Amino acid sequence: MIKSIAILISNLNKTNIISQAKYTTSVLPQFSSEKYAVKRKNFGILKSADVEYFKSVLSEDRVLTDESDVLPFNIDWIKNCRGQSKIVLKPKTTDEVSQILSYCNKNRLAVCPQGGNTGLVGGSVPVFDEIVINLVHMNKIISLDDISGALVCEAGCILENLDNYVRDHNLIMPLDLGAKGSCHIGGNISTNAGGLRLLRYGNLHGSVLGIEAVKADGTVVDCLRTLKKDNTGYHLKHLFIGSEGTLGVVTKVAIHCPALPKAVSLGFFGVENFENLLKLYKSAKSSLGEILSAFEMADNKSISLTVENCKLSNPIGDYPFYVLIETHGSDETHDSEKLNRFLSQEMESGLILDGTVTSEPAKIKNIWHIRESIAGAGLINGYVFKYDVSLPLRNYYDLVLTLRTRVGDRARVYGYGHVGDGNIHINVSASKYSKELYAILEPFIYEEVAKVGGSISAEHGVGFRKPQFIHYSKDKTALQLMRDLKQSMDPNGILNPYKVLPDVPDIEKD
Ligand SMILES: Cc1cc2nc3c(=O)[nH]c(=O)nc-3n(C[C@H](O)[C@H](O)[C@H](O)COP(=O)(O)OP(=O)(O)OC[C@H]3O[C@@H](n4cnc5c(N)ncnc54)[C@H](O)[C@@H]3O)c2cc1C
Ligand SMILES: *[C@@H]1O[C@H](CO)[C@@H](O)[C@H](O)[C@H]1NC(C)=O
Ligand SMILES: *[C@@H]1O[C@H](CO)[C@@H](O)[C@H](O)[C@H]1NC(C)=O
Ligand SMILES: *[C@@H]1O[C@H](CO)[C@@H](O)[C@H](O)[C@H]1NC(C)=O
Repeated sequence: MIKSIAILISNLNKTNIISQAKYTTSVLPQFSSEKYAVKRKNFGILKSADVEYFKSVLSEDRVLTDESDVLPFNIDWIKNCRGQSKIVLKPKTTDEVSQILSYCNKNRLAVCPQGGNTGLVGGSVPVFDEIVINLVHMNKIISLDDISGALVCEAGCILENLDNYVRDHNLIMPLDLGAKGSCHIGGNISTNAGGLRLLRYGNLHGSVLGIEAVKADGTVVDCLRTLKKDNTGYHLKHLFIGSEGTLGVVTKVAIHCPALPKAVSLGFFGVENFENLLKLYKSAKSSLGEILSAFEMADNKSISLTVENCKLSNPIGDYPFYVLIETHGSDETHDSEKLNRFLSQEMESGLILDGTVTSEPAKIKNIWHIRESIAGAGLINGYVFKYDVSLPLRNYYDLVLTLRTRVGDRARVYGYGHVGDGNIHINVSASKYSKELYAILEPFIYEEVAKVGGSISAEHGVGFRKPQFIHYSKDKTALQLMRDLKQSMDPNGILNPYKVLPDVPDIEKD
């Protein structure tokens, strides 16, 4: 009854899809400031003396000012936002970051911290002429304690490189995102990235043990401890997790790495409707218990579009919904038996229409590859409006259906995501960006999310694109405390301006 997996033709690897996506449009995106009608705040303007100063702190090759060199740092991954920065700085040490910030703060020069520039809400690129501080050269691994699992490294380390490094010590990184080949651990922390295995390993507020960060005035805040338990006053490291570069530049990180699972199994299933999918989730939690490491869903449209655009092949037939279940455990026989028993039980009950289970690394990789390709797939043929929201599980898929009715044949709407975390990604894919479609989608989508008590940004953050919508998910009193913290840590507002915090509406100003 259980099918073996057909061979997947996957000659496109992830990097190919990403670079292909980047260069299909030869036209540069419009400047964010014009597209979204933003006014420049009263910051200083870069002078040649400033450039000279930066060259004296960094070596000359780590100060980019040539227009074509700077361009890629001004454009975000989805080519939606474009800044007008004249300069990119690439510090190598915390001390260099501190000197840069202290100088910028004195001269009221705004900055934009940048990691792998894979962020999806426009937070990682400047809006006007902010100085880009890119952490790509801060990529040293400092230490690894293979007993406790504590890894200490610089913020610019690429996630995938860290994962490969700790694997040699039988550990894994507690997170794994679709962008792991380019995102930086510092960027992950600044966005509190979630990813594919949050269900099992929790979010970064749990796994980050310590942080070193530089405040706007250049002060280095040392919270770089590697202890699991440390209740000595305020939990300051959390301020930097998810604050998207608005409170400080993260320079070093201590993170807890769980043990490398000895046995990994994967199931890919077809399901009739969303109600059954939820029942299957509930059943997976009780049948698979502690070995369940991921429960992902994608609707028919996500998979068919991805398979078509990326020239992959779907290992099972055509179904309304797909579920990917992964287990991480310590006993191969025991774990795959458990997963196979789950599959037969739920095929009998009718919750699973058809499916396949595998423990072979190559096959596992191919199935994950389909799931991870969904992200880039929509970019290949046009413009994608992306939404990343948390919803109560009962309402999880309703929004996709509501939006389909609302946009009609103007665009294709599809949903996929991390069911286990109540996090759905909804993409609206059109042939090109249009203001008309934008107005149909926003703020409608955020109003719908707020109605059921969801979050308008589950894992991608607020960035440049969502500050005006933050009130749908944050109470006034909470927003005020955010403003107070910002004022205290960055009184001149030089760190990533125009991001995260909305401007105070004129009626509330005295
Ligand atoms: C294909 C794909 C799949 C993705 N999948 C997921 C997913 O599953 N889960 C998820 O949560 N996200 C996902 N993302 C979103 C994105 O990759 C994450 O938000 C990631 O954590 C960003 O890391 P980065 O290094 O690229 O940061 P950037 O994009 O460079 O920056 C993101 C924000 O953090 C700030 N920042 C960066 N580095 C620092 C630093 N050292 N100190 C202070 N501030 C800093 C920037 O100013 C910006 O506001 C995905 C993106 C892509 C392209
Ligand atoms: C960082 O974010 C990227 C991209 O979203 C993800 O692939 C990766 O797993 C994350 N790394 C960590 C350590 O969370
Ligand atoms: C899945 O989508 C494809 C392409 O849009 C469509 O042809 C097919 O009928 C759909 N199948 C199901 C089961 O919904
Ligand atoms: C859908 O949106 C997500 C983010 O919400 C993005 O990562 C992905 O590229 C998009 N996928 C498609 C097929 O457009």
